[in-house]
Amino acid sequence: MKPAVLVTGGTGYIGSHTAVELINSGFDVISADNLHNSEAWINERIGMITGKTPILEIADICDTARVDDLFRKYPAIKAVIHFAAYKAVGESVEKPLEYYRNNILSTINLLEMMKKYGTAHIVFSSSCTVYGQPDVLPVTEESPLKQAASPYGNTKKICEDIIKDSASAYSDINAVSLRYFNPIGAHSSGLIGELPRGVPENLVPFITQTAIGLRDELKVFGNDYDTPDGTCIRDYLHVSDLAIAHVKAVERLLNGRNKASYEVFNLGAGKGVSVMEAIKSFERVSGVKLKYRITGRRHGDIEKIWADPSLANRELGWKTIYTLDDAMKSAWQWEIKLREMR
Ligand code: NAD
Ligand code: WQD
Repeated sequence: MKPAVLVTGGTGYIGSHTAVELINSGFDVISADNLHNSEAWINERIGMITGKTPILEIADICDTARVDDLFRKYPAIKAVIHFAAYKAVGESVEKPLEYYRNNILSTINLLEMMKKYGTAHIVFSSSCTVYGQPDVLPVTEESPLKQAASPYGNTKKICEDIIKDSASAYSDINAVSLRYFNPIGAHSSGLIGELPRGVPENLVPFITQTAIGLRDELKVFGNDYDTPDGTCIRDYLHVSDLAIAHVKAVERLLNGRNKASYEVFNLGAGKGVSVMEAIKSFERVSGVKLKYRITGRRHGDIEKIWADPSLANRELGWKTIYTLDDAMKSAWQWEIKLREMR
């Protein structure tokens, strides 16, 4: 029997792209999502892309009994990828308890049920947000972690600690935390992509929604930073590249190639890109002149950050394939398809 992977948050943005890559690599996928920030039809789209629709369980991972049921029902589950979380940084400042409850309780529930049912392996969605504004760039896994700038960021730090402590205490649990930099873009089929609810907080969906006419203009949050063009710098990577890293991490755990019971990898392209460069890339690949205006800085923004992904390159045998232009083009194709559906 093929190993099955429980993908929490499997109809979400990164989870859906990862489900595609898992199925393409021969895994069975059991997807569990409460549809808080996604739509069930995404699961059908995964089936259209891969020829195999994942099992979708509408389940809240904070519901301990429900998670227990999932593990009991699917003994083929050999690994968990835990994407399910709330992720809006601004909202987390207004609703910290909801974020702490959802993101932390879901993680504890999974670890407890993994112990109970003897499922040894978990891959966790962490974030470069745990580094805050680094003193030295690029960021390696050894770079110091800073006090989180938001409750959301703090949940990532706390969950990493909970997973690390569990992997250290329980010899039958092995874990990998993947610290994502800035995932963007959509699957090359144009069938799945990011589905922001309401006004997007993130740059690329805001760019594509502005270009399609849903938003009046993009506000560029500050051009007085200490960067070559004054705008903030991030490390953008294509979501399909990011998805493949999850397959590699699961395979590493299942094949016992991990070097410690808890490992951490940075996942980025390793290249800093400014907001203005991102806009130019979008304009280049879409042929659309974007309406934007420089405004004041956004509170809490990091000035510049990009990854040193060499550990993941070496240990996971993974590196990004897609360029910034590829990612922007796919994001734009996805936005156009969404308009056709609206
Ligand atoms: P997303 O919101 O698209 O996907 C998360 C999914 O989890 C959604 O489908 C949502 O319905 C589901 N979910 C949330 N709480 C749940 C619960 N209690 N039970 C069941 N399902 C639940 O977000 P995404 O961008 O795909 O992010 C996936 C993970 O990666 C998150 O943990 C996020 O914090 C992390 N991450 C994302 C980014 C990014 O820029 N997108 C960067 C770094 C880390
Ligand atoms: C990118 C750049 C903005 C919107 C967030 C989370 C972080 C992590 C990744 C999950 C910044 C600028 C944006 C706009 C703009 N997620 N911008 N106008 O800030 O790197 O981080 O996503 O873990 O935790 O905080 O991503 O896409 O919001 O912004 O000028 O309307 O675009 O200032 O420089 P960010 P982002």
